[in-house]
Amino acid sequence: MRATFFASMLDSVPPAQIPIVMSLSEQLKKIEVNARNGLAGAADLAALDAWHADYLSKKGSLTEILKGLKDLSPDEKRSTGALANTVREALESAFLARKREISQAEINERLKSETYDALRPRSSHRGHLHPLTQITEELEDLFSFMGFTILDGPEVETDENNFGKLNFSDDHPARDMQDTIWTAQEGVLLRTHTSSVQVRAMQILKPPFRILAPGRCFRYEETDASHENTFNQAEGMMIGENLSVANLIHVMKTFLSSFFEREVTVRLRPGYFPFVEPGFELDIQCLVCGGPGCPVCKHSGWVELLPCGMVHPNVLRQGGLNPEKWNGFAFGLGLSRLVMMRYGIEDIRHFMSGNLRFLEQFPA
Ligand code: FA5
Repeated sequence: MRATFFASMLDSVPPAQIPIVMSLSEQLKKIEVNARNGLAGAADLAALDAWHADYLSKKGSLTEILKGLKDLSPDEKRSTGALANTVREALESAFLARKREISQAEINERLKSETYDALRPRSSHRGHLHPLTQITEELEDLFSFMGFTILDGPEVETDENNFGKLNFSDDHPARDMQDTIWTAQEGVLLRTHTSSVQVRAMQILKPPFRILAPGRCFRYEETDASHENTFNQAEGMMIGENLSVANLIHVMKTFLSSFFEREVTVRLRPGYFPFVEPGFELDIQCLVCGGPGCPVCKHSGWVELLPCGMVHPNVLRQGGLNPEKWNGFAFGLGLSRLVMMRYGIEDIRHFMSGNLRFLEQFPA
């Protein structure tokens, strides 16, 4: 059956009796007009999706109407098919244009009500100081309270300040105790200990004085659970008249009891460092077992904590101080190990690992 009916044939038939059948082309044009009106009326993206389903989807009216193509003559099929494609393409592009329009309108609407603060942090995650920095600041407070001046010194040092003026002669075997990282410049190294700041302190301060010099040190060492090639120390030095080992013990005990927030028992054992005489290793009674012995103190009841001693007269002389008048003591705290003992950290390499899961355990 032909699906078309020509208007001229309808002229003589009263309207009520006319079965109004439009050609496919006319129906296509009518669909286009309706579709364009519908598109203009679609107010949001949801309405637009519904419109697309009505007209352009597989079950939409455009597809439906094209099912009638099969009943047309080949010529009509060709011309109506071409028209259908033109209408479809026109509607597709009108659809995309309207979609852009609606999306932009929705963005404009949102911008009216929303504000954006470009300076606001994106997440609520707050950083904190590294545990070594926290301990450094704590030590600075404690020692300042005891009348010590906090000093800073360079990490790149001369051989003279790191060794020479600390009573290490050029061929002194004790130089081998501290494996050194040298720079390309002769006689310039990365300081192996903060004792180099003692030398600088004697040159810039007038005695009597007390200093604490925290900072990073570097050694060319294999790393293991208790050794790093970069680690933190704090050097202490007190210069005055008639100072004795008793003063050294008193200052150390006062500091350690404040730091560990309990009475600490200390003992001195002989230790060798060219820049102190006599030199000691200071041990504290194990804070974990209290003396009887445990794995932390390797069942000895004592934990080796810091080397110290009375400043060697040669060092005073090199620093421009008269050893007949001035004397004093010095000590070298291993900060990394101090933090490890306080928090029970089993491996020094965690500090420089950059592992946030480790660092986040020490919020300031
Ligand atoms: C010294 O560095 C001396 N300057 C200390 C000193 C100062 C003695 C004043 C007397 C008077 P020593 O090499 O032992 O000493 O190091 C001191 C502390 O630094 C050690 O007890 C340890 O806690 C820490 N330390 C040394 N080497 C390393 C390393 N590779 N990794 C981590 N900590 C280290």
